[in-house]
Amino acid sequence: MIVITGATGELGQHVVERLVFKVPPKEVCLAVRSVHRAERLSGYGVRIVSADYDVPESLSAAFSGAEQVLLISSSDIGRRVSQHKNVIDAARAVGVKHFVYTSMLHADTCTMAFADEHRQTEQAIRASGLPFTILRNGWYAENCRIKLRVAMLRGVLLGSAGYGAQSMATRGDYAEAAVAALTGRTPPGRVYELAGDVAWTYADMARELSRLVDRKIDYRNVGSAEHRNILTEAGLPTAFADFLVDVDRAIAAGELMDDSGDLQKLISRPATPLPRYLEAMLAT
Ligand SMILES: NC(=O)c1ccc[n+]([C@@H]2O[C@H](COP(=O)([O-])OP(=O)(O)OC[C@H]3O[C@@H](n4cnc5c(N)ncnc54)[C@H](OP(=O)(O)O)[C@@H]3O)[C@@H](O)[C@H]2O)c1
Repeated sequence: MIVITGATGELGQHVVERLVFKVPPKEVCLAVRSVHRAERLSGYGVRIVSADYDVPESLSAAFSGAEQVLLISSSDIGRRVSQHKNVIDAARAVGVKHFVYTSMLHADTCTMAFADEHRQTEQAIRASGLPFTILRNGWYAENCRIKLRVAMLRGVLLGSAGYGAQSMATRGDYAEAAVAALTGRTPPGRVYELAGDVAWTYADMARELSRLVDRKIDYRNVGSAEHRNILTEAGLPTAFADFLVDVDRAIAAGELMDDSGDLQKLISRPATPLPRYLEAMLAT
């Protein structure tokens, strides 16, 4: 049995929709917090069980008979280490043979605020003795959607990343990497740095967007403090503005860039090029 946590989330759904075409669906079990949210996915013939990262007994029950567990990192920022440790403990208790975790790019060195939770989770996985694969997912291309939509409205793409570049890929690409790990394509104990094949600066993105919409969109780089002010004055909650400014600081420092090629090797095809993603975004 392959158990997938967080399967009702955006990434999880992509994983399920691909995995069911690679293994018999009856061998796939979705361990989800809200069973009703998994209703659509149940149509694939997979098993659905209730499991909450905060309730260890629910995890032990959900993992009964599991050979592999994919832990999709929790969205509950600040509480993730204890939640993830509950998952690791439950997997160890039932003797899972392969534990796969979706971490973040360069989790060992990244200075972004939330990297520490991924670092601690990776340490806990190693300490558990479970055979593991760590998939350090880069930035989702989908994260740029709102920024790019605003840029289209205003004719200016605003950021504070200077000319730092980021190697984004789509959730679908990262999901395919997870499926590769769950179908025997990764030797145990390996860490993969997953990222798009081409690194893009915001200036590159503004240029590409201009080309696609046939209208000039410029990149305006500002300092971190000014960026934060502009975002909060536009109505964003302070914590979210701080997060976005921190992301740009990390991009400027090259922390969201990677040229290992791990993603395309694992999925045996190039990652979705950003222009293809932008075209799809404009079509919706
Ligand atoms: N690489 C990036 O750019 C990037 C960006 C954003 C997030 N992330 C990370 O990647 C993960 C997956 O991304 P995503 O887009 O799929 O996020 P998402 O749509 O927010 O999915 C998060 C999943 O975590 C589940 N979850 C939260 N608390 C839980 C709990 N106590 N017990 C059981 N399940 C719980 C949610 O369950 P419900 O469906 O019931 O809510 C949901 O299925 C995120 O959680 C986050 O850690 C990465």
